[in-house]
Amino acid sequence: MKAASILGSVLLAAVSVQGHVVPQARDTPVEDLASEEPSQITSLLEEAKAKVINQVALNERKMRKRGLTPSCTVDKLRFRREYGSLSTSERLAYVNAVKCLQTLPPLTPASVAPGARSRFDDFIVTHIQQTLNIHFSGNFQPWHRWYVYQYEKALREECGYNGSQPYWDWPKYSSAPQDSPLFNGDPYSLGGNGEYIPHEGPVIVPPPGVGGGNIQLPAGLGGGYVTTGPFANMTINLGPVGGLEGVPAGPLGGLGYNPRGLKRDIGPAMNQRYANWTTVLTLLSQPNIDAFRHVSEGVPYTPEIGPHGGMHYNIGGDPGGDLFTSPGDPAFWVHHGQMDRMWAVWQALGSPFSTTRYTDLGSGPYAHQSWANEPPSPLTPLTEVLDMGYAAPSTTIANVMSTTGGEFCYFYL
Ligand SMILES: *[C@@H]1O[C@H](CO)[C@@H](O)[C@H](O)[C@H]1NC(C)=O
Ligand SMILES: *[C@@H]1O[C@H](CO)[C@@H](O)[C@H](O)[C@H]1NC(C)=O
Ligand SMILES: *[C@@H]1O[C@H](CO)[C@@H](O)[C@H](O)[C@H]1NC(C)=O
Repeated sequence: MKAASILGSVLLAAVSVQGHVVPQARDTPVEDLASEEPSQITSLLEEAKAKVINQVALNERKMRKRGLTPSCTVDKLRFRREYGSLSTSERLAYVNAVKCLQTLPPLTPASVAPGARSRFDDFIVTHIQQTLNIHFSGNFQPWHRWYVYQYEKALREECGYNGSQPYWDWPKYSSAPQDSPLFNGDPYSLGGNGEYIPHEGPVIVPPPGVGGGNIQLPAGLGGGYVTTGPFANMTINLGPVGGLEGVPAGPLGGLGYNPRGLKRDIGPAMNQRYANWTTVLTLLSQPNIDAFRHVSEGVPYTPEIGPHGGMHYNIGGDPGGDLFTSPGDPAFWVHHGQMDRMWAVWQALGSPFSTTRYTDLGSGPYAHQSWANEPPSPLTPLTEVLDMGYAAPSTTIANVMSTTGGEFCYFYL
């Protein structure tokens, strides 16, 4: 047996870097790295999938009886899958489509965002412009559902990708996310972790006008530039805007041209603390949308930032650690794939098939038009427009409440 394969069975080995003891990745087989999904969660996922398929079939029968043709049918239903469950050629097809999007010309006029240099950048611009209106507000989940869908659609229609948007099943690799199929730096990954630089974790700082204090978060195992995998030499053009202590903003409020390398700070500390199996079970067990969002998004600028914020800062670095520019890291899209999956599964779990979960945006502090209802503002209505700027067409919240309604016909495996 070769030394490498003996080492492969060792999950973590301590290596000293400039006096710091750093857990170092060995080429651990995925099956050793992936932790087993608790059976309670498996049951909930199965229940949700069965309910969605039944509901689509029922709707299809009803419509055909009335002589109508349903736009979503059981045959057409597409399933988004966990990144590591894709074959290497499927992962490569996804990676190549993302790279393609990064080479297509932008639709955003230079007068709006001179830093936008590609179709990929169009998506970052619209997120930067709307950050303070699309987080901790009633449109947060619908906006990001439409956003991820439009990104997936661009990959398919503009870059010839024929698969679905994959997701990052947060707890699955939480003991060493940097070694997971998503971030191990092999040609099928979304690029490796950043190079290890001894550092404290990020300190997140509320944007002006937003309540809460500075929060020190745990450090990851990177901090430097990504040097391995398909996005090793990727250029970030836009941002940063703000949100991290000690990170100066780029030109023109982040919309100017600011070419630089991709940095990440992935590691187990943030992952285990904010997005473990218990987190997922707790999330899926919430009785209503206000409670669901409280678990999912936590309370901004307190230590309880929830799996949404927790996993953003687990990507960390630049632009991943920047609230505004975070979609500039390709990992954003698998994280938000999982965000959408959690919401879609929770919606389907309403008993026996609750329409409330497809119509109710709640009435809690995150159900309003302003960030955590600061300053106080009206509740977000289902008629509100989800604006994608130059990235994609707009729609209304009502059109995106179900992943098998409106233009959609997808669910999650
Ligand atoms: C989808 O793409 C993969 C990889 O490029 C290819 O092998 C497969 O044949 C394609 N499938 C369809 C239905 O086009
Ligand atoms: C990144 O760029 C450097 C310098 O141009 C080059 O040596 C290296 O091979 C590139 N890495 C990848 C993964 O493309
Ligand atoms: C799991 O996540 C929850 C938050 O969802 C956290 O309170 C708990 O401490 C985490 N467990 C561990 C072992 O870190």
